[in-house]
Amino acid sequence: MASQNIVLVGFMGTGKTTLGELLASKLARPLVDMDESIEKQAGKTIPRIFDEDGESHFRKLEKKLAKELAGKSGLIISTGGGIVLDPENIAQLSSSGMVVCLSATPEEILERLAKDEHRPLLNGDKEAKIRDILAEREDLYAAIPYQLETSGRDPKELSARIVKDYLSLKDD
Ligand code: S3P
Repeated sequence: MASQNIVLVGFMGTGKTTLGELLASKLARPLVDMDESIEKQAGKTIPRIFDEDGESHFRKLEKKLAKELAGKSGLIISTGGGIVLDPENIAQLSSSGMVVCLSATPEEILERLAKDEHRPLLNGDKEAKIRDILAEREDLYAAIPYQLETSGRDPKELSARIVKDYLSLKDD
């Protein structure tokens, strides 16, 4: 039986990378961090891609990679926060496995990303940007059936819960 992917979705700073690493080690599965893969393929950082090629080019690379990964199995996939902007990305990734949408309060996101300089969409007034973009994307994240709040929660407990749900899903 081909093993389904686990796909982590959610706004920047909601814990996709942390949980991805925990899940990959618990399940002994390869972790694909989409942002890292895009940077490797493009040979430059995400801030440079945004700056030199524009956000729309980044979205094209992201879409191409989402399609490629949806054709694979047995992966833990940590997506970039904007993956929900294109419904086709979510449709394809959903058909490849279990999509988990992580969330966190704006306060916690701000705290987690306070020193971050790697996210071009948050340049400037970080707090205002977080609130604005979260509001813009609220419905897109909310449309994902499996929701997990990460604020003030222990990542190890959260990963144990995802593993349990994933394994029970496979038994169905
Ligand atoms: C983005 C989130 C980032 C990265 C890019 C755009 C977004 O990924 O893909 O900066 O649009 O929310 P993380 O969610 O891993 O920070």
